[in-house]
Amino acid sequence: MTTPTHTDTYSAVQTHFPLKERIGHPDLYVYRQTQWEDFLNWTRKIPKMVSKSRAILARKKSGKTAFVQRLFNHLWQENGSVLPFYFEISESKQWLGNLAMEGEPDSSLPGIFHGLSESKIAPMLVTGSYIGWLMNIIRQHLEGARLKIFEFPTAMAPEESLEVALRLSEHLEVPVTNATALQIAEMCRHDPFFIRCLIDSSAPDLDLTTERGVQEGVKYEIMSNTSENQIGIAKTAEIIGDTKLFHF
Ligand SMILES: Nc1ncnc2c1ncn2[C@@H]1O[C@H](COP(=O)(O)OP(=O)(O)O)[C@@H](O)[C@H]1O
Ligand SMILES: [Mg+2]
Repeated sequence: MTTPTHTDTYSAVQTHFPLKERIGHPDLYVYRQTQWEDFLNWTRKIPKMVSKSRAILARKKSGKTAFVQRLFNHLWQENGSVLPFYFEISESKQWLGNLAMEGEPDSSLPGIFHGLSESKIAPMLVTGSYIGWLMNIIRQHLEGARLKIFEFPTAMAPEESLEVALRLSEHLEVPVTNATALQIAEMCRHDPFFIRCLIDSSAPDLDLTTERGVQEGVKYEIMSNTSENQIGIAKTAEIIGDTKLFHF
């Protein structure tokens, strides 16, 4: 099977995905080419029993779940010699208490990881954000040895984020022009979640077909503190100083 690229769509490349992806319609997923190829290569080497476990570390809402869910579906559908398993563990400590077989609730899980992560027959791919429990596990129990850590950038390649904007515009029926799609990708710093928040924005009189309209929409998303876009405030700190892109 060929490696999908950011312009491939679900209909063109995929036939059946067993895992319902949280992103929604599978066509909304745009491949991050660099990381995709690297991780696909890693899976190709699993049958040779040389692949070490990996951890993906990145900020919240940077596309970790989207990435690993697609990797799972891809491997499953490919029906090759790698059998993928996918499970999700809540980041809350209380829940870890239920899972605990022994010892302190929040130190039992690392114990489970400890054994699994050493396996080159069934290597793990773990994801987590910087402020979650994964960081603690890595620091306390796995440091330096069994897990290879990959830091994922939030920003996609420019052509990939442009594709995210175009697909969302089509899917959500929110019109953009070629020029404003580029502007959206840039103003959202090539961050797919930010792009989604903007195109799905509930800003009054949202108009993403003009330069001014996009500026207004971005401003609204940054200033609003809705649950959908809780990172809006965090992003303010990053974007607010950039007068080239934004004027308050
Ligand atoms: N590769 C991608 N293609 C298109 N949209 C993406 C992609 N990665 C992330 N997104 C958008 O960002 C949102 C948050 O991504 P998610 O995987 O849930 O982040 P994380 O797991 O890092 O918190 C997704 O729901 C989607 O709208
Ligand atoms: Mg996630």
